[in-house]
Amino acid sequence: MPKIAIIGAGFVGSLTAMRIVESGLADVVLIDKQEGLAAGKALDLGQATAFFPQAASVSGGSRLELAAGAQVVVITAGFARAPGMNRLDLLRKNSEIVREVVAGLKEIAPDSILLVVTNPLDEMSYLAWRASGFPSERIMGMAGMLDAARYRFFAASALGALPASVQALVMGTHGEGMIPLSRGASVSGTPLGELLSSDEIALAEERTVKGGAEIVSLLKSGSAHFAPSAAIFSMLQNILLDEGRIMTASVLLQGEYGLRDIFLGVPVRLGNSGVREIIELELSEEESKALQAAALSTAAKLEDLGLG
Ligand code: LAC
Repeated sequence: MPKIAIIGAGFVGSLTAMRIVESGLADVVLIDKQEGLAAGKALDLGQATAFFPQAASVSGGSRLELAAGAQVVVITAGFARAPGMNRLDLLRKNSEIVREVVAGLKEIAPDSILLVVTNPLDEMSYLAWRASGFPSERIMGMAGMLDAARYRFFAASALGALPASVQALVMGTHGEGMIPLSRGASVSGTPLGELLSSDEIALAEERTVKGGAEIVSLLKSGSAHFAPSAAIFSMLQNILLDEGRIMTASVLLQGEYGLRDIFLGVPVRLGNSGVREIIELELSEEESKALQAAALSTAAKLEDLGLG
């Protein structure tokens, strides 16, 4: 059975653990600095497996050493957004956490694939790459699958269709630089533009870009976790089962899309080696400009961190 380590036993980390363990995809070790939190959740989840004959095993604790032998390490540790706080406010707080975790993982799980979830996503993925020294195929950030799920949900709601029947691609950053590629969206192969008005599509795009913030402001404390954990789980399946499916992930661009030394959400093919291939789409001038702008804003934030 493969092993997945999850750093951070908050809502996103523990729901991800639940999806993995109950499906039997991999054994899980849940790790959290807060003494007792990961161990308690792992005990609780372990007891739930009595109802799931296919379930895998789960353990938890506070020591990073527990990640040894993991094929994939999911990094969710960090502060969630508070109402009114943008992802940029998190930059300094969370960079310290990610830097420390990754420095440890470099020794403890040197062959692992790192799946970064901590916000601000694209900058934390870049930081994980720099701090680990791992080959870039083994570092990726989860955002595009979540953002696309939101788009699919809003488009499906406007149509009265099932979200699972809507296909969509959302590129760029996990934030203001998000680029929903509506021209490629479809419902079971029928272009979305033939089914929804441009106003309806614009509304789905707007709610997608602000999707995380809308939930944060409703919850008052904490941020989204059901859809993020489902998106992480789908990426983990793709990786561990070596499916080779195309998904959007935040990955290092080295010349693709005319960009260099930056992590941005683009379509990639995943497998058990990590990022197998970066897919370079033909972008319109407007899309290309939006991607350049997203790259510039990410680069400015990295500069703030002294990583420019
Ligand atoms: C969201 C936060 C977690 O998009 O980034 O829900």
